[in-house]
Amino acid sequence: MTSADHVTLFLLLLGLSSAASQPNFVLLFADDLGYGDLGCYGHPTSLTPNLNRLAAGGLRFTDFYCSSPVCSPSRASLLTGRYQTRSGVYPGVLYPDSIGGLPLNETTIAEVLKPVGYATAAVGKWHLGYGANGMYLPTNQGFDQYLGIPYSHDMGPCKNLTCFPPDVKCFGLCDVGTVTVPLMRNEKIVQQPVNFLELEKAYSDFATNFIVTAAQKQQPFFLYYPAHVTHTLPQYAGTRTAGKTLRGPFGDALAEFDHTVGDIMAALEKAGVANNTLVFFTSDNGPELMRMSRGGSAGLLKCGKGTTYDGGMREPAIAYWPGTIQPGVTHELASTLDILPTMARLAEAKLPSVALDGVDITELLIQQGKSKRETMMFYPTNPSELYGLFAVRMGKYKAHFYTQGATHSGTTPDADCPVFAVLKAHDPPLLFDLEMDPSEYYPLSLSGRPDLQTVLEEIRQVKAQFEATIVFAHSEMSKGTDKNLVPCCNPQCSPKPTCCSCA
Ligand SMILES: *[C@@H]1O[C@H](CO)[C@@H](O)[C@H](O)[C@H]1NC(C)=O
Ligand SMILES: *[C@@H]1O[C@H](CO)[C@@H](O)[C@H](O)[C@H]1NC(C)=O
Ligand SMILES: *[C@@H]1O[C@H](CO)[C@@H](O)[C@H](O)[C@H]1NC(C)=O
Repeated sequence: MTSADHVTLFLLLLGLSSAASQPNFVLLFADDLGYGDLGCYGHPTSLTPNLNRLAAGGLRFTDFYCSSPVCSPSRASLLTGRYQTRSGVYPGVLYPDSIGGLPLNETTIAEVLKPVGYATAAVGKWHLGYGANGMYLPTNQGFDQYLGIPYSHDMGPCKNLTCFPPDVKCFGLCDVGTVTVPLMRNEKIVQQPVNFLELEKAYSDFATNFIVTAAQKQQPFFLYYPAHVTHTLPQYAGTRTAGKTLRGPFGDALAEFDHTVGDIMAALEKAGVANNTLVFFTSDNGPELMRMSRGGSAGLLKCGKGTTYDGGMREPAIAYWPGTIQPGVTHELASTLDILPTMARLAEAKLPSVALDGVDITELLIQQGKSKRETMMFYPTNPSELYGLFAVRMGKYKAHFYTQGATHSGTTPDADCPVFAVLKAHDPPLLFDLEMDPSEYYPLSLSGRPDLQTVLEEIRQVKAQFEATIVFAHSEMSKGTDKNLVPCCNPQCSPKPTCCSCA
């Protein structure tokens, strides 16, 4: 290492990197992938060699949370560093004909990084709105380029789509009432219906091309890759991985995601930028347990998607940056909310002047220091001012003020998970020690425990203080739907939706 390198490294450690050493960012975001799904998180039959390699060479989190047990709100928080109640991306998720979307005056990570010179691209599942004339697409939210399906890939008829082997239909039910699923490049539909079997390859090529081009121009870049393939239905895997894992269809789909991760890593290495790139991987929410063995796994955590138990919101997460992040495992608390402030710090970009819920975790990443995050707030799928937070985690303790099961978490033997577990208020709240009992099986008894009474009192204060800062934004989902808004490659055609079909 030259002395100039030492200076750069020193400045970097202080978060004062010069423009010349602005790191690149690759943000990998899996869909409905649970805490127990990866090989490096203990799954015995998943085939995830590339993610395992990132975990072995990077920092693996055991206590990392997304902000919502469902997709759109979780993505809104990831990209803005704010709870969904502030941006209005709640309750539930957006649909192809939704009028609302992530409000354009919200500042995304891409919009934070662009002013300091970053090339920005999104590839994959957007799910933060389409809207009139595609007004909510990524290219209107700070991304220079986009290739992908703008919502969940089950939001269109899929009955006749061919999966693998070539004569087998994709498994599962889809929304038949809307148009077939489009593939978009920027604001233009390039294929409708999309060819699922070639989708990962298209994503991989797009990502590689973006990385190589930016590296050639010596421009720092931000690549956001929210994947579809592990979202349970319609279930598919391309020819590279179909039938190749011991875990069956979900394992094959996961292996395909992992394969793309490998392609992206190879592109970074080939372009010579791997050592100057922070790769961050996590997932949007817990597993869809209702799909039984065809769905994801929360591992030892309780319940899954749609619930505020840890299985719904605690996620696998890995930060990889060879030479800068030391390999290891951290039990510090962190969240998707923290990614925006951390990337802003590393890129020397200005934070948006809004109420941010994320904290800068640069020290945690680079020096294995403490996390500035001490608490995590748990909103249900349908947050409301009437109920407010369902749960709060503070340090190792988690208090549930309300619990409720969810359709997405049906079918497991635990009676607290399915939709039949109706909304229940807890006073005093159910209190768990997540270090001793990560499965949230054994509520702590408060009798004769003044120390726990104190903990609960503190949690109540933290909750009250936080809720006093929240002004619920007008709900984007409550703006409703308009059948005329759905993406159609042949906009004037009729009858819709069947005529929206282009090769
Ligand atoms: C965006 O605009 C809406 C409507 O005017 C407003 O209520 C909201 O506070 C704005 N959000 C931000 C982050 O400025
Ligand atoms: C699926 O195929 C059947 C029979 O070929 C056809 O009648 C039906 O319209 C197709 N459905 C869709 C959604 O394309
Ligand atoms: C990247 O860093 C590793 C470990 O610090 C080093 O072995 C390798 O040579 C570096 N690669 C490049 C291209 O600088």
